[in-house]
Amino acid sequence: MHFINFLLFCLSYVLTVLETLHPSEDPFSIDVSKAGLTQGGPPASTPRASSTFGSPGPPTHQTPLIPLTPAKDSIGTPKDPILPRPTTVMGGGEGYRTVAYFVNWGIYGRKYFPHTVPADKLTHVLYSFGDNREDGEVILTDQWSDIQIHYEGDSWNDQGNNLYGNLKQLYLLKKKNRNLKVLLSIGGWTYAHEQKHFDTPASTPQGRKKFADSCVQLIKDLGFDGIDIDWEYPRDQDQGHQLLLLLQAIRSAMDAYASKLEGETGTKPQFVLTIAAPAGADNYNNIPLGAIAQVLDFINLMAYDYSGSWDKAAGHQANLFPSTSVPACTPFNSQSVIDAYVSKGVPANKIVLGMPLYGRAFTNTDGIGKSYNGSGPGSWENGVWDFKALPQPGAQEYSDEESGASYSYDQNTRTLVSYDTLDMAKKKAKWIKQKGLGGAMWWELSGDRQGEGSIVNGVVAELGGPSSGRLEHHANWLIYPDSQYDNLRKGFPNN
Ligand SMILES: *[C@@H]1O[C@H](CO)[C@@H](O)[C@H](O)[C@H]1NC(C)=O
Repeated sequence: MHFINFLLFCLSYVLTVLETLHPSEDPFSIDVSKAGLTQGGPPASTPRASSTFGSPGPPTHQTPLIPLTPAKDSIGTPKDPILPRPTTVMGGGEGYRTVAYFVNWGIYGRKYFPHTVPADKLTHVLYSFGDNREDGEVILTDQWSDIQIHYEGDSWNDQGNNLYGNLKQLYLLKKKNRNLKVLLSIGGWTYAHEQKHFDTPASTPQGRKKFADSCVQLIKDLGFDGIDIDWEYPRDQDQGHQLLLLLQAIRSAMDAYASKLEGETGTKPQFVLTIAAPAGADNYNNIPLGAIAQVLDFINLMAYDYSGSWDKAAGHQANLFPSTSVPACTPFNSQSVIDAYVSKGVPANKIVLGMPLYGRAFTNTDGIGKSYNGSGPGSWENGVWDFKALPQPGAQEYSDEESGASYSYDQNTRTLVSYDTLDMAKKKAKWIKQKGLGGAMWWELSGDRQGEGSIVNGVVAELGGPSSGRLEHHANWLIYPDSQYDNLRKGFPNN
């Protein structure tokens, strides 16, 4: 990764120089993929539900169905030194969040740029991923993509120290869409799971403080509205407790900085803190969920990757319910995970249901719940297809109402792909309302269709639509007087 980043950096430098000599009319015409850098991003950065992705047999997960009970305060957890966030009430209160990951490698092969983000439909964008050093310092992972690439409207003649890249564009989207909050998402599969970067700093007070302080530094400098932590996954109770302490440190550092800021009418920012949370019981049982929920604004449940190439049978990857007729096709189900979270003290309206904008493939199979052999090619990695590429030509879509899941199957190639169709995604939106959940989240934006067939559009409409008052209404923050970047300090008056 570091070597690739270095290559990207060199390439971006060359492009920047070339661009300075020959400013192009259309900045999107810079085609990095043609330079053979389509693998610029982490190869497998999907936040995954199972701790054992890549190895057979994720933990069996037969949580008994627990009836939904009213949200309780944290049960048997240490006293939270930080003031609990007020619990919100759907409908009359803050409303549903619509949350989506934007990946900073998406601008390369995937050609997904900030201007494509459905900013008027989202309450939160999770900008991924930030990483951290061993001492806890949080850092950007692709300077060119994050803060350097010049897009349309970016001058090459600005004086001083100025911000460009995706983060300038996202700030401009915030200016036009005052309900859109942009969070820096730190960790993810590559940095947190494969490289275990949280382990060292999370385990000491100094590490957590440095982590929290540098989160605030990035908020100050880059115009974020908050922080999202994707620790996949605390491996035991100790690390679960360290996650709580880390979140408390970030919360208090953000609150301290917020108290120093002031808007025109004396308003203060409320920086947002969220996590990506696991659906596997072996993982979430390590986390003090009730206590963590009090520190967080909401929890993004990774309710996908329930099934994939590590399983014995072709199964659903994002089903709501267990299948009683074909149990082999539902090793996990969202219903039982949410019931478990609620029983551990997480208010249902703080749980945001994650949904995939991609499908997982199984080849040489006779159907759902049956054995398979291989997963075939995919859009960007083997066996994983963007939603917008599905169904593949020749395949037919099916809905499994009992499981609350959909898939496609091609009888000729005997290939099954598990994913949410637009219709199933809308059904999930109805379920979110029924269960009083906190909204919808997607991994990740570049997989969606544009316009008519868009899952984000369809689900947002089902939740009531952006102007219905059903979505969370909470203004983002635009005033960053301490940024190192001149143009952000002034609020980009020329854009
Ligand atoms: C699975 O496919 C591979 C080749 O793609 C083949 O070598 C292997 O025998 C197959 N396994 C089974 C159980 O059919």
